Amino acid sequence: MCEEINTTNLEILSTDIHQDYRILWHKRLGKGATQDPIYLATHIKTRKRFAVKMVLDSTQARREISLQRRCQHSPHVLSIVDVYSNAASRISSQSREEQYLYIVLEVMEGGTLLSLLEKFNIITGESGLSEVLTAGYFRQILLALSTLHQQGIIHRDLKPDNILLTHDYSIYDLEDEEVCADFQLQLADFGFAVEEADRPTKAMYTPYYAAPEVLLNDPHLNVHHLQHHSDTVSTTTTTTTTLASYDSRIDLWSLGVTLYILLSSTAPFTPESHTRSGITPSMYECIENGKFSFYHECWEEVSLEAKDLITGLLQADPDKRLSLQQVLEHPWLNNKIEI
Ligand SMILES: Nc1ncnc2c1ncn2[C@@H]1O[C@H](COP(=O)(O)OP(=O)(O)O)[C@@H](O)[C@H]1O
Ligand SMILES: [Mg+2]
Repeated sequence: MCEEINTTNLEILSTDIHQDYRILWHKRLGKGATQDPIYLATHIKTRKRFAVKMVLDSTQARREISLQRRCQHSPHVLSIVDVYSNAASRISSQSREEQYLYIVLEVMEGGTLLSLLEKFNIITGESGLSEVLTAGYFRQILLALSTLHQQGIIHRDLKPDNILLTHDYSIYDLEDEEVCADFQLQLADFGFAVEEADRPTKAMYTPYYAAPEVLLNDPHLNVHHLQHHSDTVSTTTTTTTTLASYDSRIDLWSLGVTLYILLSSTAPFTPESHTRSGITPSMYECIENGKFSFYHECWEEVSLEAKDLITGLLQADPDKRLSLQQVLEHPWLNNKIEI
C-alpha cells in the first residue's frame, strides 16, 4: 500500500536535541514550498555547523527521512546526520505541545542552484548559465537521480530550488568559470519522494516542473481525459475514476525543465499571464502535448545537442522520453558518464 513505509532502520533519537545542538533560531536558512522552517545550528561538542529542518512528526515526514537516508551514500545527495523526535509548541505562546522531527542535515553553505542562477544573471547580464557550467552541474544532478532510481525511489520534486551547493562562493568566484565549475551540488528535499513499487497515482507536484502523466491525475485541473468506468454493484451503479500510476520517468521530465531553465533562465511551460499562478488551461495543453519553443534570443547561441537533449526529455509520452541511461550517454555530455 502506498502509505505504508518501512521504518525498521529509521533511527530517531528521543533525547533532547538541545543537549547536542545549539539551534540559532534567528538564522533561518530557507523556507521551501511546505513552509517547514530550516535553521542554522552548531554541534555543541565539535562546533561544526549544520542545518536543522523542523517538521511535524507524521508518516509522510518519516518517509522523507527514510527515503533520503537510503540514497545518502551518493556524494550528490544531501546527508541526514541525525533525527530527533521532540515535543515543542508550534508557536512559543501556545501551550499545547506537538511532536516534531528535527532533521539535522549537512549545511549547504552555497544556497540553492536557483539562487546561483539569479546571481549569475545579475553579474553577466545574460540569461542562463554557459553550456560548459550547466553540463557540469547537470552531470551531478544525473548522478544523484541515478542513485534514487537504482533504489526504486522517485523524487517527484526535482527543481533548482531543491538542488543545493555545498560551499559558499564569493562574488569574485562567480566571475571565474573554472572556479564555478568546481561547485559541488547535492539533491535535497525528499518531501515528495515515493517508492516506485508503490505505483503512485497522487498528483503531488510543483506546477512548472510537473510531467503530463502526473497532472492527468489532478482532479482540480479538471482534465477531461480521465478514463471512467462503471461498476455495477447490486442495483446501484457507481462511477469510479481510474487513475493510472506513473513511474520514475516523471523525474526525467522535471530534469528537462530544469535543464531548460539553467540554460535560459526562462521556463518552457508558463501561464500566459504573470498574474496567474498554477497551471492554466493553455499551459496544461502545452505540457500535455510537449509543446514548447526555443524562441527566446538566448537560445540562438545554444548548441543543437543541448536542444536535442531537452527535446528528448520533454516528450509528453513517457515511452518516447529519453531514459536516464540515454541521457547519461547523450553527446551533449561529451563522454559517457559511468555510474
Ligand atoms: N541543508 C541545508 N543547508 C542550507 N540550506 C538549506 C538546507 N536544506 C534546505 N535549505 C534551504 O531551505 C529551503 C527549503 O528546504 P527544503 O528541504 O527544500 O524544504 P521544503 O520541503 O519546504 O521545500 C531550500 O530551498 C534551501 O534554501
Ligand atoms: Mg524544497
